[in-house]
Amino acid sequence: MASTKRVTVRTFARMKGKRIAVLTAYDYYTARALDRAGVEALLVGDSVNMVYHGEPNTLSADMPLMLAHTRAVARGADRALVIGDMPFLSYQPSARDAVYNAGRFLKEAGAQAIKLEGGTEVARTVRRVVEAGIPVMGHIGLTPQSIHRFGGYQVRGKTAKQADDLRSSAQALEEAGVFSMVIEAVPAELAREVTESLKVPTIGIGAGPHTDGQVMVINDIAGLFEDFQPKFVRRYAELGTRLTEVAQAFVNDVRSGSFPSDQESY
Ligand code: KIV
Repeated sequence: MASTKRVTVRTFARMKGKRIAVLTAYDYYTARALDRAGVEALLVGDSVNMVYHGEPNTLSADMPLMLAHTRAVARGADRALVIGDMPFLSYQPSARDAVYNAGRFLKEAGAQAIKLEGGTEVARTVRRVVEAGIPVMGHIGLTPQSIHRFGGYQVRGKTAKQADDLRSSAQALEEAGVFSMVIEAVPAELAREVTESLKVPTIGIGAGPHTDGQVMVINDIAGLFEDFQPKFVRRYAELGTRLTEVAQAFVNDVRSGSFPSDQESY
């Protein structure tokens, strides 16, 4: 049974070298279920734009959308650290924008930390946000807000140049004060090397087994998102299919007249 004590950034620091479990969540009831399961953190990822709102990528997610989902998750989480994901253009224009928008996740939505994408190029911004008292999780490797720059969702860090960029980005983010960082879609050995070079814990997604923790999109592992399935996803259930079965049973009962029964009426 997981401890009921609130997870904080200090818990993350103590868990370097241990196994940290992080899932995305976007709504109140899912947050409650995942919190009870004992995850260390709930990431309100901008992936919500795709898996909940059916958009083709994360780029059109904005602050009102992210704050609304983060507020719902924060209400459902008693123990897990709630991390709000900064949407595209909420931190890139200036450090001032970044501090203001990051602060809104804590002040208006009840998050305890934020995540933003990028490495060396955002390190100064990260430092400013941290100096404002806001814990920051970094995100390097495949950063979906840059898909048009990358030209797609391919693995990052396979060329020597990309691997060097990843190493220097990890160092720059650590120096800027992140409490943890996501490493997405990079070869397992590179993720291991970066993880061993850092004092802060790394959280991998599609980055092999050697990072300090793992994060998955809940809709992927629960079988609720069927548009595509990345190779690194382990599907634990087929809740999308189950939901269709539930709806079919209801449709049948309404059509046959067996719902509602006398017991289900006032
Ligand atoms: O938006 C998201 O869900 C993420 C995770 C996949 C790391 O950034």
